[in-house]
Amino acid sequence: MTFDGKSVDVPAGVSVAAALLISGARQFRSTPVSAAPRAPYCMMGVCFECLVQIDGRPGRQSCLTAVRDGMVVECQHGASALTLAEG
Ligand code: FES
Repeated sequence: MTFDGKSVDVPAGVSVAAALLISGARQFRSTPVSAAPRAPYCMMGVCFECLVQIDGRPGRQSCLTAVRDGMVVECQHGASALTLAEG
């Protein structure tokens, strides 16, 4: 997988959050208001501090997402854009 454009070798069968922490990542997102750096806290889907962009989709909880070969993960800066449904 890659994180912010850098290739990262990670163990199979772990979450994206665990894989990134093992590889040395310390910032997963920045807050929308103050741009403060954030990283996983609960590792069980409760705190939402682990949000990243995965394969172009923002707001993914990295602690609840299993790694896949070729996954493209990026730090999420600020709020993700809203996509309104047509209709
Ligand atoms: S680390 Fe808390 S929701 Fe992912």
